[in-house]
Amino acid sequence: MVWFIIVLLCLGNSLAQISDLTVYKDSELEERLLSLLQKLQIEQMYDTLLIYGEDCVFPSLFTSLPVSTVLVSSGSTNFDWNFSSLTLILSCGFQAEREENYRTLIKLQNSRRLILLSENIQPETVCDYYTKKEQYNIAMVKENFDLFGVVHSCRIFQERKYEKINLFEDKTIFKEQFRNMHGAPIRTLSDMAPPRSMVYRDAKTGEEKIIGFVANLIRHFVQKVNATMDMQVKLIEAGTKISFENISKWASEDLLDIGMSEATSWEKSNFDTLSYPYLMTSHCFMVPIPDVVPDSKIYMIIIDPPVLAVLFIIFCIFSLLLIYTQQKSWRGLSLSSVLLNDKSLRGFLGQPFPFPRHSSRILKLICLNVCFSSLMTTTMYTAYLQSLFCNPPLQPRLHNFGDLEKTRFKVAISSYEMLMLQRFNLCEKQLKIFDNSNQFSYFRNTFNTDYIYPVTSVRWSTFKEQQKLFAYPLFYYSDSLCLNLFDIFSFPIRRHLPYRDLFEEHILRQHEFGLPKYWIDRSFADMLRLKITPFEDLSPPRLNDKMHLDDLYWALVMFGTGLGISCWCFAIEFLGSPSFWRRLRESMWLRIQN
Ligand SMILES: *[C@@H]1O[C@H](CO)[C@@H](O)[C@H](O)[C@H]1NC(C)=O
Ligand SMILES: *[C@@H]1O[C@H](CO)[C@@H](O)[C@H](O)[C@H]1NC(C)=O
Ligand SMILES: *[C@@H]1O[C@H](CO)[C@@H](O)[C@H](O)[C@H]1NC(C)=O
Repeated sequence: MVWFIIVLLCLGNSLAQISDLTVYKDSELEERLLSLLQKLQIEQMYDTLLIYGEDCVFPSLFTSLPVSTVLVSSGSTNFDWNFSSLTLILSCGFQAEREENYRTLIKLQNSRRLILLSENIQPETVCDYYTKKEQYNIAMVKENFDLFGVVHSCRIFQERKYEKINLFEDKTIFKEQFRNMHGAPIRTLSDMAPPRSMVYRDAKTGEEKIIGFVANLIRHFVQKVNATMDMQVKLIEAGTKISFENISKWASEDLLDIGMSEATSWEKSNFDTLSYPYLMTSHCFMVPIPDVVPDSKIYMIIIDPPVLAVLFIIFCIFSLLLIYTQQKSWRGLSLSSVLLNDKSLRGFLGQPFPFPRHSSRILKLICLNVCFSSLMTTTMYTAYLQSLFCNPPLQPRLHNFGDLEKTRFKVAISSYEMLMLQRFNLCEKQLKIFDNSNQFSYFRNTFNTDYIYPVTSVRWSTFKEQQKLFAYPLFYYSDSLCLNLFDIFSFPIRRHLPYRDLFEEHILRQHEFGLPKYWIDRSFADMLRLKITPFEDLSPPRLNDKMHLDDLYWALVMFGTGLGISCWCFAIEFLGSPSFWRRLRESMWLRIQN
């Protein structure tokens, strides 16, 4: 028979409590079951009833209950239904539920299940059966429930796998069993990537301990649910190093319960093997702080065309004013008298110039202004030049991956992160790719300034701290070269982890108390304490910054050009004057006569 589903929303009196229901009870069993459902509603609210199977009393109950009911008589939905987490499942008999749809199974894994058993089936068998399917919230009633009112409820962490509860007893039927796991193991494994997890041996007790902002969270969870941590070191082949990619893979293959590392979230379409995000980070590049501008270029930097233009205009204005006030007319005005005005030019360059005799007050004022502005400009340029020589400016920072080609930097990257970088089309020779993420981190820790490295903002916080030990910082965290401006850090977890909700609640609780932030803030101090990071200055010694003649190259070129121009002017003036040739002729004449 083709399965069919009837979704029936019983609107009725929406405020009606189950206790207020006045229903027609056709049998004693139905009445008992209704009071059981009522007890369950009080234990924990449910808003949907999902009834598997048809030939039993359950399907006839739904009309009496003010909740949505889904009837699945064939036992399987084979469709991706989005059931709410507050669904109560009723099963007409052992194995009436034959759900095969993977997504539906995941959604219904933690739902409470109530099974109506025929007399001859042992509760033990049922519990074992569901435990194998990793469904743990199971309760059973037998067909003689109306006589004894006994509910059997599965319990995994105890000797006898189920508990008998009388309907009228004051005991809860479904327990959150994973809140106390009675020492059951939680399989985990760490990628030992500091500062996320760091192993050390306690000096007093000799015990091996693990700390770090990732390790701490899992350690606390294990303590909280009274489990034991079971490190699956046997998965690691001797002599090999594993990375978070291996751990993610093993968690998705059900070899680990919770991985003590980051999960590979890139290109995952769902959260089946990822936990709720633990941290929000960004994943950008740390880039070497650019080199300083070479001394020889500094002279050119201070010559700023707009400033020169303004100075030139002021100079012309002074020349015009001087010409006019001296002659009280524009008669002497010519291009050369403005541009090569003797007083104004000398005054402007801070040189002495002949002060006009018998000058009027206005002329004195103008000359005073020339002196004052010459003082201003020469002081300004001298101060500018000297301070830039003492403290040279930096070359511009990188703004995008295109800028990389113009620099000497190469990109060091792990093969996993390379997948994310592919969209930027960098050319082969600019890349240094590491197959193993650990090798890559090791390389990054050397602070080699020929490379730029991808790093998450969380890890960067420790690098930033480490740079405080250096004579000067070597890297900065770029917010324009990014693999991912918004990156989530999740834990790799097993697909059917039955205590996923507890673990995720634990993550949120730790955040509530600000513990992750505290752990991250002190992670560099821990790394130093455990000698994972050396307490040393990795910055190369600064080159001896003496000045060389080359550094004055542009200054000397300008000086030489100026000198050349003036010699040339002098020569023209000298050779062009008629008196020069006359005197030359006279002296020649005298020599011949003698
Ligand atoms: C349930 O949710 C999934 C994913 O969001 C969607 O693909 C699917 O169509 C939904 N099912 C129904 C019945 O709406
Ligand atoms: C925790 O588990 C141990 C068994 O490993 C058990 O003896 C102990 O009672 C449990 N603690 C609590 C608080 O239940
Ligand atoms: C870990 O993963 C890398 C690449 O992802 C692989 O080459 C290596 O064999 C894996 N190691 C183990 C022990 O599986």
